[in-house]
Amino acid sequence: MCNDRDLDTPQRDFLALMEAGTLPLMAAPMFLVSGPELVVACAKAGITGSFPAANARNLDILDAWMAHTRDAVQAGNAATPWALNMIVHKSYDRFDRELELVRKYQPRIVSTALGSPRRVLDTVHGYGGIVMADVASPTMARKAADAGADVLVLVSSGAGGHTGHYHPFAFVAEVRKFWSGPLGLAGAVTRGTDIRAAQLLGADFVLAGTRFIATAESQAMPAYRDMVVSSHLEDLVQTKAVSGVLANWLKPSLEAAGFTEEQLREEKKIDFSGDIVDAPKAWKTVWSAGHGVGGIHRVAPVGDVVRELRADYDNALRMEQIQLQALCRRYLAAAPSH
Ligand SMILES: Cc1cc2nc3c(=O)[nH]c(=O)nc-3n(C[C@H](O)[C@H](O)[C@H](O)COP(=O)(O)O)c2cc1C
Repeated sequence: MCNDRDLDTPQRDFLALMEAGTLPLMAAPMFLVSGPELVVACAKAGITGSFPAANARNLDILDAWMAHTRDAVQAGNAATPWALNMIVHKSYDRFDRELELVRKYQPRIVSTALGSPRRVLDTVHGYGGIVMADVASPTMARKAADAGADVLVLVSSGAGGHTGHYHPFAFVAEVRKFWSGPLGLAGAVTRGTDIRAAQLLGADFVLAGTRFIATAESQAMPAYRDMVVSSHLEDLVQTKAVSGVLANWLKPSLEAAGFTEEQLREEKKIDFSGDIVDAPKAWKTVWSAGHGVGGIHRVAPVGDVVRELRADYDNALRMEQIQLQALCRRYLAAAPSH
């Protein structure tokens, strides 16, 4: 984590929020998986949770979800914020009405997906909120930074949902050449050790999605949670055939939905218009997970997951301390002074 950085107020606020939490971790927004119950459980466990606005079947339900989440999070743990995720793609026709609800309920963090964060900036900054942009390439990261996003999340290869293409080592390094603001890493974060590894690469925090599918508070169907628990890295198939965007899908769910090898090579047209919650196959019967799926061994309440991650993170720090002492003895003691 960088300390001497030229940060503006929303960026300093964001890093302070991450430092105040149980871990520098956010539960990522997941279509048809994350809702208010998951977000409130995250706040109780001391981490920031988020849900996609599109998960609410209609705007009245979204209104009720946002009211409930705001009140429950504030009542439980005022220091922990919650985040709303918005589709900002031009074909998404609920955007303007969702933005009105953002103005009304003022989630501390608004994250944007599938387009430029520019569309939400004035509204969110208007009430002192923080805008976070998910990006899948250095070019997208630069555009989001130029558009005024406060926080960037690098969705790297192996991520669940609409996955990234780039290896996190290289991706973080490229973006850190021009971005000193708060930086999150998403993709296959399943263990506390992964969180520490992301920090060593240069990220400030992580977003974990798949890790929270098999939780008591997720909206995933029991069969989906069980499939996550029983699946491993090689059970994932990466294709554009299901939603039109490259994503990782669980092979048994593709097979059950009748996808053939040939269909998996096809590219579906991208379209977020209409009632996407009622989309027949994508997401509802075909289930997504990230490359970290093999590290999930049971369905558990969010509180237990966060406790396990924290214990593993603490253990990683202890191991690192021991390794560092040994490495310093071996290398620094033998190194010529410069
Ligand atoms: C089932 C599922 C649905 C997702 N839906 C969304 C979404 O609606 N909006 C979004 O920005 N990201 C979505 N994502 C991506 C996550 O926010 C996050 O980037 C990803 O889960 C991180 O990778 P991981 O699953 O390996 O932890 C989804 C991911 C999954 C697994």
